[in-house]
Amino acid sequence: MSHGHLPLGQGAGRAAVLTGLGSFVPPRVVTNEELSRTLDTTDEWIRTRTGITRRHWADPGTATGDLAVAAGERALKSAGSADVDLVVLATTTPDHPCPATAPDVASRLGLGNVAAYDIAAVCSGFVYALASAAGAIATGTAERVLVIGAETYSTILDPDDRTTSVIFGDGAGAVVLRAGDPTEQGALLGYDLGSDGSLKDLIIVPGGGSRQRTTQADEPGARPADTYFTMQGKQVFRHAVTRMAASSRAMLDRSGWAPETVDWFVGHQANVRILHAVADQLGMARDRTVVNLDRVGNTSAASIPLALADAVSGGLITPGDRVLMSAFGGGVTWGSTALVWPDIAVQ
Ligand code: COA
Repeated sequence: MSHGHLPLGQGAGRAAVLTGLGSFVPPRVVTNEELSRTLDTTDEWIRTRTGITRRHWADPGTATGDLAVAAGERALKSAGSADVDLVVLATTTPDHPCPATAPDVASRLGLGNVAAYDIAAVCSGFVYALASAAGAIATGTAERVLVIGAETYSTILDPDDRTTSVIFGDGAGAVVLRAGDPTEQGALLGYDLGSDGSLKDLIIVPGGGSRQRTTQADEPGARPADTYFTMQGKQVFRHAVTRMAASSRAMLDRSGWAPETVDWFVGHQANVRILHAVADQLGMARDRTVVNLDRVGNTSAASIPLALADAVSGGLITPGDRVLMSAFGGGVTWGSTALVWPDIAVQ
């Protein structure tokens, strides 16, 4: 088993400390009933196979950057300061194939000429972005970082594909990280990251990149539908459980936490059956699992910060709680991190 181990966080001189949290979902709610009017599916199937009852989809004209700005604004307000020197944006659905979305978001937030870049690790994007931001803090490249996970999957879903359209939702979540001490409440305690590119076809948008160009739609074999998101759900399910459990275990080892001492498991919100299977494998009680996918679906890179914001504003996660985060996504990629929850006001 391959796990990337970044020598960051615990043990390093400077840790990244979470100091702000905010989230945003577009107003339009799409219920299972609404989807079952145009797709061969039922509310019952979606609820029992995934746990999802509704999701939010952006109206045409709303882009990922718009959601990122809204969540970013709230995270900066929660942190009590708009003073950041780096913006890292995790997304699968950037505003354009080129340039990255982060610089525009930074500019619209009035952050000046700060460094800004996107991270593409699909549903693991937010954890990868946290590790990347923490690296910038550890090396002194940045003092305060705005880390955003934002997605508009509704723009890449095939409206005729019942296996993907019922699962994904749009939204954005953001945190502010500041340089601090590894022993502080809110310090990220390290990272476990990994990938297996031999499984890239499990989650893929085949067209629109350099391998299969959309500009040459008349090429033999090219289909407009190739710009849609595709997923081999059953296989993804299996790998998600195995990898999230192994990565969580590696993270628990690093932080020296026994599974039963974790207050909240904030796993990537793909399917409630995945979250419960991971909890079972780790020997954690299922009711320690944060679940908000019932209301927002799978929001990919936005999923973990949206779940965090929901759990903190709902009074589940409270200061001093041990929080373990773990994600799995296209690539395939996976990643985990952990922290003791700080005393912050969520927006
Ligand atoms: N409504 C009704 N039936 C559906 C359906 C839908 N929306 N989607 C699939 N089905 C059907 C299938 O066609 C299949 O029919 P068949 O038996 O006649 O072939 C049947 O339901 C079972 O499909 P299967 O894919 O085996 O179901 P599943 O229990 O694995 O659930 C997922 C499908 C997609 C919900 C599940 O595999 C999953 O959650 N995977 C991970 C998804 C994810 O979020 N990944 C994101 C990155 S981590």
